[in-house]
Amino acid sequence: MTEGVQTSPAFTPRVFSGIQPSGGLTLGNYLGALKRFADSQNKGVESIFCMVDMHAITVWQDPDALRRQTRELTAGFIASGVDPEKSILFNQSQVSAHAELAWIFNCVARMGWMQRMTQWKDKAGKNQQNASLGLFAYPALMAADILVYHATEVPVGEDQKQHLELTRDIAIKFNNDFGVDFFPITEPKIEGAATRVMSLRDGSKKMSKSDPSDMSRINMTDDADTIANKIRKARTDPDALPSEAKGLEDRPEARNLVNIYAALSDMTVDQVLTDVGGKQFSEFKPMLSDLAVEKLSPISMEMARLMEHPDEIDAILRRGAERARAIANPIIERTFEIVGMIR
Ligand code: TYM
Repeated sequence: MTEGVQTSPAFTPRVFSGIQPSGGLTLGNYLGALKRFADSQNKGVESIFCMVDMHAITVWQDPDALRRQTRELTAGFIASGVDPEKSILFNQSQVSAHAELAWIFNCVARMGWMQRMTQWKDKAGKNQQNASLGLFAYPALMAADILVYHATEVPVGEDQKQHLELTRDIAIKFNNDFGVDFFPITEPKIEGAATRVMSLRDGSKKMSKSDPSDMSRINMTDDADTIANKIRKARTDPDALPSEAKGLEDRPEARNLVNIYAALSDMTVDQVLTDVGGKQFSEFKPMLSDLAVEKLSPISMEMARLMEHPDEIDAILRRGAERARAIANPIIERTFEIVGMIR
């Protein structure tokens, strides 16, 4: 839909991304998002990261669980290297400009655009009439999250690509409708070896916190034995590993484990295969589980430590929200003026 449209060079680089506090974090969230957030922050680009609690309630959330999950997600960000001093870390509902801009975007986006969203079709399933209106409008809120900061870059996993294309379409339509060049055309950043971490039980399905089988995923809170057991039982094929990436083309389960290894070790897939090509899974799986434990254990331990101080987490979120409002409020004010609202 928006192919060929360039980002607007007039906007200063700013990174925004969000994660839903809707349950445990998985290795997919870590490799596709969290790990890369810390990288972008460390490159010195102004970075804003959000616990999207308003997105989470598009499906039912128990209130106490939502509070705990929001704190745990915040702890996950910090334990993964996001520094709440350098980056802005907050929860969405504390910055009302998200909801305000989302309403305007609900009036810009078209029903047909939303109906084409594969995530809507997957999540609503056969019973669309019974899904919440919020679940249908979800991508307009996501566009608002990004554009209320005039963010130019959005690091995400592959599954968010369609939502980011819609964000570009909303920005373009708003700019055209009102004859302005106000919202940037945001660049999706879907990069690295693990933009789509797959289920350990089925190489054709995404690793997801909502999969009924806990064996299909590695949770960020899993202990060393659990991680090793899940990798040992991960589905594979009987062949040895190839020595170049093209040998993985029709081997989704093998490709997934190699991608995970590459992302955890900051290597390319080809570099990994130069080292492990010719090995059997009986040899490669213990290497992968040692690496996963080495990288993930310090994170889960730090998350547990941070969770002992929920008041400190809440203070970090409040302070982050204040800093976020300082950026978002002038942008939402200007948006209301452009639309013709008296202020
Ligand atoms: P969510 O909460 O489902 O996932 C958070 C991030 O993790 C990535 N991810 C994965 N990456 C690789 N492999 C996987 N198996 C995997 N599973 C999840 C997701 O791509 C995402 O980057 N709609 C978003 C949240 C959101 C958002 C935003 C993101 C709301 N507003 C604005 C960016 C900008 C979502 O549901 O992500």
